[in-house]
Amino acid sequence: MNFHIMTLFPEMIMGSLSSSITGRASAKGYISFNAVNIRDYSTDKHHKVDDYTYGGGAGMLMQAQPIYDCYKSIEKDILDKGGKRPRVVYVTPQGSVFNQKMAQELAQEEDLVFLCGHYEGVDERVLEEIVTDYVSIGDYVLTGGELPAMVMIDAISRLVPGVLNNDESAMTESFNNNLLEYPQYSRPEEWMGKKVPAILLSGDHKKVDEWRLEKSIERTKERRPDLYEIWLAENPPKPEKKKRRKKKPVEIIESAETVTEDSNKEQIEDK
Ligand code: ADE
Repeated sequence: MNFHIMTLFPEMIMGSLSSSITGRASAKGYISFNAVNIRDYSTDKHHKVDDYTYGGGAGMLMQAQPIYDCYKSIEKDILDKGGKRPRVVYVTPQGSVFNQKMAQELAQEEDLVFLCGHYEGVDERVLEEIVTDYVSIGDYVLTGGELPAMVMIDAISRLVPGVLNNDESAMTESFNNNLLEYPQYSRPEEWMGKKVPAILLSGDHKKVDEWRLEKSIERTKERRPDLYEIWLAENPPKPEKKKRRKKKPVEIIESAETVTEDSNKEQIEDK
């Protein structure tokens, strides 16, 4: 999967994503990062990329032309390599809030373009022209789009096959099935007077799995009641099987007698 990031600070993106797991994955060729400097596409003699806002107001706005030309150059590279027109994510507090489901959906793409805004925003006309997805990382405002783009790229990358090694991907994780992860413990068995729950030392895998699910549910209910409600709607408690009422022995004998009596009667009447 190839990430193309339109930014005024490519060094910020490359510095961060080329370390740790995303760095290892790009060195192995599972993913690639291509941070492109929007300023390189400015036709202004001073390489200006921003200007005042029509109608007044504080702050500067990123202009349409450098962003559009930057995008067109990325798009051309992708199309020349036989790819399709990419999705373009504009990271903005005005977008839909990013979540694991979105990460899973975006991880299916071959190429993904991110547009990182700065200053007071971006000229609306270029957004209308190129953006396919408006995405936020939460209801707070940051100084620019680079950090949100990196957050999303990190979450998407780890879902690309090969990026995580077996141990890392075998990890049960929060947000699978809308449940948070259960509590985990490592050595020593006792620390600061706190003991590892005995069930985890029992070696009974079935019991351990049941305990973990129970803790996941408990934790989600307590910390993320919103997620718990979603989980509950998708996993309604199974209705208890109706117990068939056993007839009392006396009743059985009584009804047996009735049958015998009736059938006797019938037999007599038939005759
Ligand atoms: N740019 C500034 N704040 C942001 C946020 N919360 N999410 C995405 N992009 C942003």
